Amino acid sequence: MEKNIMYDFTTAADRSQTNAEKYTLREKLFGTEDVLPAWVADMDIDTPDFVLESVKKRLEHPIVGYEEFPDSAFEAQIEWMKKHHNVEYKLDEMFYSHSVVASMQVVISAFTEFGDEVIVQTPIYPPFFHAPLQMDRKVLKNPLKQKEDGTYIFDLDDLKSKITDKTKLLLLSSPHNPVGRVWRKEELEALLEICIENNIVIFADEVHCDLVYKSNKHIPFASLKGAKEITITAIGVGKTFNMAGFAASSIVVPKNLQEKFKEAYDSVHFAQGNVLSHVAFEAAYREGSKWIEALLVHLYKNYQMLEELCAKYSDYIKLIPIEGTYLAWLDCKGMHLSDKLLRKWFVQEAKLGLNAGLSFGKEGSGFMRLNFAVPSAKMTQIIKQLENALQRMKQQ
Ligand SMILES: Cc1ncc(COP(=O)(O)O)c(C=O)c1O
Repeated sequence: MEKNIMYDFTTAADRSQTNAEKYTLREKLFGTEDVLPAWVADMDIDTPDFVLESVKKRLEHPIVGYEEFPDSAFEAQIEWMKKHHNVEYKLDEMFYSHSVVASMQVVISAFTEFGDEVIVQTPIYPPFFHAPLQMDRKVLKNPLKQKEDGTYIFDLDDLKSKITDKTKLLLLSSPHNPVGRVWRKEELEALLEICIENNIVIFADEVHCDLVYKSNKHIPFASLKGAKEITITAIGVGKTFNMAGFAASSIVVPKNLQEKFKEAYDSVHFAQGNVLSHVAFEAAYREGSKWIEALLVHLYKNYQMLEELCAKYSDYIKLIPIEGTYLAWLDCKGMHLSDKLLRKWFVQEAKLGLNAGLSFGKEGSGFMRLNFAVPSAKMTQIIKQLENALQRMKQQ
């Protein structure tokens, strides 16, 4: 049962003294502890209380031995996906995974062989191109095309011209990290048509599916007509409810692909996940509708603060319009700095720790990615630091 309470995202617990990656890696990544970190894709926002309560309750039982990932948790996820995204997954299609990146690796291993080509649409979350390369597959780069207004679309002509008989798999990011697109049905259908024509399997990474703003609507790839039998989908609680530390997600595999999939999946022993994540996963999906609704309102306000700032300094930074995710894609080419100096500028002048655009592929050159999933107080601080640095730049 969902509680009818107001959620407040103005402040959150301090993570700086915890083992949070976003903070502990500051020195290593930015050469200093003196940066406000806005990089790795988790939130500086408290994981919902109903999730934490479920864990406390579970700990009232003193034995934490092996347990099966419960059907009831998958059922809660299936209900959520039906209610929020109008897609029907079945219990016998759901597999547990501790990591979406690991799920991607299993799918690459199951559906491609050494030397096969995997389609990757850059700029993109780095494991999309690292994973195939680490597994001795070839990356078939199909860069996204940028329109006049800065937003991105698929380049299907480029894709069609590059596909060979070695092209076996497409890794789709939907909604897209880092460019923030929520792909329209027509766009996905056009992509699907090419995959069907060329016998290409799709791995749809849809972990950001619940983080979609305003009138945008996430379309699960597997829900398209003709897509289900060739699509494997990754979804989970990590991004939606800030539960990455629970390491719990699902892989949805249609029946006809399961034999091949299972061979690879079973060979690396995914096991059943940790016991505390089982109850946390279920509680999130059963009780999370009101929370996510409130969170999206908050996140969009943060985005608007950034939008206002970038409009003021548009000669230097252009904010790429966002449709989904809490990751802002900043076009900083107006600053006329090399990628190295751009990164340095953010660290030394703005004292902010962002992801360098270049890490998402060479198409990310001149860009930075800013994670705005922070409480209002911290967002105000981010804006202030960025504005001061931009003001100084303007005066030079
Ligand atoms: C698109 C996308 N996929 C996967 C991941 C990582 O998921 P996991 O931690 O479950 O491997 C991230 C994290 O930033 C992401 O943005």
